[in-house]
Amino acid sequence: MRTFSWLLLVVACGGSEPSSPAEPRPDLRIVAITDLQGYLEPCGCTSRPLGGIDRLAQRFTALSAETPTLFVAAGDLWLSPQAHGPGAETQERWRAETLSEILKELGLDALTPGPADLREGADRFFAHRERLGAPVVAAGARVGEEALPAIASVSVGDLRIDVVGLARLDVDPLPAAREALAARTDRPALTLALVVGDRRLARDAAMLPEVDLVILGGLARAEPLAPQTTDGAPILHAGRQGQGLLVVDLRRPSAEGAWLDRSEWSIATRRDALDDEIRDLEARLEAWTREGRAAVDVDAQRARLAGLRTERDRLRVPPLADGRRGFSARWEELDPDAPRAPAVRERLTALDRRINDHNRTALAERTPPPVAEGEPHYVGSDACASCHAPAHAWWRAHPHGRAYETLASRDKQFHLDCVGCHVTGYERPGGSTVTQLGDGGVLRDVGCENCHGPGSAHLTAPTAATITRDAPESLCVRCHNEEHSDRFVYDAYRATLLVPGHGRPVSP
Ligand code: HEC
Ligand code: HEC
Ligand code: HEC
Ligand code: HEC
Repeated sequence: MRTFSWLLLVVACGGSEPSSPAEPRPDLRIVAITDLQGYLEPCGCTSRPLGGIDRLAQRFTALSAETPTLFVAAGDLWLSPQAHGPGAETQERWRAETLSEILKELGLDALTPGPADLREGADRFFAHRERLGAPVVAAGARVGEEALPAIASVSVGDLRIDVVGLARLDVDPLPAAREALAARTDRPALTLALVVGDRRLARDAAMLPEVDLVILGGLARAEPLAPQTTDGAPILHAGRQGQGLLVVDLRRPSAEGAWLDRSEWSIATRRDALDDEIRDLEARLEAWTREGRAAVDVDAQRARLAGLRTERDRLRVPPLADGRRGFSARWEELDPDAPRAPAVRERLTALDRRINDHNRTALAERTPPPVAEGEPHYVGSDACASCHAPAHAWWRAHPHGRAYETLASRDKQFHLDCVGCHVTGYERPGGSTVTQLGDGGVLRDVGCENCHGPGSAHLTAPTAATITRDAPESLCVRCHNEEHSDRFVYDAYRATLLVPGHGRPVSP
């Protein structure tokens, strides 16, 4: 085994310069995504929109050019766990198809799907799989009449890698995974488990003696988890919605025995935990000394503090000992400045147009719910201008008054997952729909009536009794939720709305 790895190393170093002189090129690289959830790109609402399959493609191409690379995905790939509203079926299907085609071109090696991927039935699932062109593994899972395979063997360079899938779908995947692993006649260089479920299932998979590494999807968290190395195989996670890539560089992957975790990420995580513990203990020691608490063994606690400080100061990436196998995992965020693959970008733009054109006609007849007898309906912000001219002028220039153009300039104003928060009275009685925005489109943008309520009665009888004055936080967060407005603080945001002419007197 040693000779084999050594040979590989020599070959690897012969090709091109290793990235750092101290660290030889890895023998194998794993790039993983978890819980992509059908995201082709971020919506753009937040202060730092992360991800995008065009950025992902660009980065993956560079990563895989450097060293032999296994590319895997775990967790909901094609669809989001949140069901899309009625009429979104076509746009979601087209998006999933585009996603599959792009991942196929990048050479995805294996997928273990999540529950949302099965939501639209067996035929749709098989069609997506066909387009993806990669093995889809999930031990014990049945889709329609077909039992999905538990294991796929993938070749990367000279290495054979077995990918075993354990997804919590309808049945417990563990017995089937165990059986399939035991039935193998020869041992691959590496066995990677793709787990979709919770941390418990990941730990169970990590304890399977044949499994070398676990990649965990299906967690309801945006942030990637740092490597978990307590028991059995290391467990890794890659966040969600394609906001970044998990990159795991392996040295001597087929050596026997435990891995050495050589990730800066793990060191930084441990350092943060120690810092917290040290700060906490320092504060407590100070309090004990101040209060002269006899019951506490202060000396023992001081010694503990010294121990923690020493551990912290000594933290560094361990050298790879002779013959051991090591991994170094990192999380590469795909930030707004990350370059995009131009061809992929073009496809996304074309897809946006196609979806826009489709929904514009397919949903043209969609009308808002009817207004109950005696209740007001939406009239649009321009109807307020004649009596509240300063407020209207302010609003027009505010981002709320341009919210529809934000979508239209991106060919997304008919996308069902965008329009609702960028228009007025969306799907409310007497309000708007994706295609019907009042006569002349007066319900475009985030209008007065989103905050003050539908205004028809106030037009007929312009008194305080016919309109709502203030807008509570619960109203704002229908749109300014965590996913779309990461910096939202009600008081601070509301205060910026109150200007001379709107909420404050026009200056004399
Ligand atoms: C025909 C003139 C007229 C039009 C059009 C009009 N308003 Fe008013 N609005 C008034 C008057 C007058 C008051 C003051 C009522 C009072 O204080 O008795 C008022 C008050 C308000 C208030 C404050 C209510 C309060 O409790 O103090 C809000 C909010 C408001 N209007 C919003 C709107 C919106 C939104 C529209 C468009 C849908 C609109 N108005 C259209 C005349 C108008
Ligand atoms: C119907 C959805 C919706 C509601 C309700 C809503 N907003 Fe907004 N808000 C938006 C959108 C969309 C934008 C961004 C528009 C753009 O730039 O295209 C925005 C932008 C803003 C901005 C500008 C932020 C910036 O970066 O300049 C402020 C401030 C704001 N909203 C405050 C509020 C407050 C406070 C409330 C509640 C009283 C509220 N909004 C209710 C959708 C909404
Ligand atoms: C749940 C409501 C919601 C949905 C759905 C939504 N947005 Fe937004 N969007 C907002 C809010 C709120 C803001 C303003 C955030 C802030 O400034 O705090 C915003 C801001 C934006 C901005 C930034 C505007 C600027 O000029 O800075 C863009 C771009 C945008 N949205 C595009 C989209 C697209 C594209 C989609 C669909 C993929 C979408 N939005 C779906 C609520 C939403
Ligand atoms: C994002 C929410 C929001 C939007 C959009 C909005 N307002 Fe307001 N408006 C408020 C808040 C908050 C207040 C302050 C209420 C208070 O003082 O109790 C206010 C106050 C007012 C008042 C009463 C105070 C005054 O200045 O006389 C009027 C009238 C008013 N708005 C009209 C409008 C009109 C007209 C539009 C559209 C052109 C509009 N508002 C758009 C949130 C909004």
